[in-house]
Amino acid sequence: MLLAATIGLAATSLQADVIAPGDVVMTEYGEVTESLTGVPGDPARGQAIMVDRGQGNCLACHQVTALDHEPWHGEVGPSLDGVATRWDEAALRGLLVNADTVFPDSIMPAFYKVSGFVRPGDGFTTRPAPADLQPMLAAQDIEDVVAFLMTLTDY
Ligand code: HEC
Repeated sequence: MLLAATIGLAATSLQADVIAPGDVVMTEYGEVTESLTGVPGDPARGQAIMVDRGQGNCLACHQVTALDHEPWHGEVGPSLDGVATRWDEAALRGLLVNADTVFPDSIMPAFYKVSGFVRPGDGFTTRPAPADLQPMLAAQDIEDVVAFLMTLTDY
């Protein structure tokens, strides 16, 4: 009983620190300066999310030399090599939350957005979105991907 109560409490306080998609504060330059979770990103996990075709699926559109061991790098978007020298952490977080602020009408998915879509779909599945729209990536996923992107300093 006591254990369950303690776990419940821990889960609640964890939840409280997560900024919901509707509450994200973005600067006029499309930067999100505050961490979405307060928990430092894990670059290894971020790399896994980026190459996962059902999660980030970043390689569908981007080439990344550091991920050369993965097949199929797309050329729809720019190569992400050296991306950490072009953008800082707040800018990268903002691009993932919603790239539209920096690149109007970008075809890059807004990974942390749940409203304002014309015809929302369910991630990359082509099915219509469920009534309660979930962001394409969870808050910690975004932090982890940002942490990996920050390692991409080489061209
Ligand atoms: C459907 C294609 C698509 C997907 C999927 C996609 N992007 Fe993009 N991304 C783009 C395009 C296109 C641009 C260039 C800006 C524009 O014209 O919209 C871009 C720009 C960027 C930039 C800025 C690059 C620069 O140097 O200017 C970053 C960083 C980025 N994407 C990261 C990601 C990450 C990380 C993922 C996966 C979580 C991802 N993108 C998924 C299409 C995509």
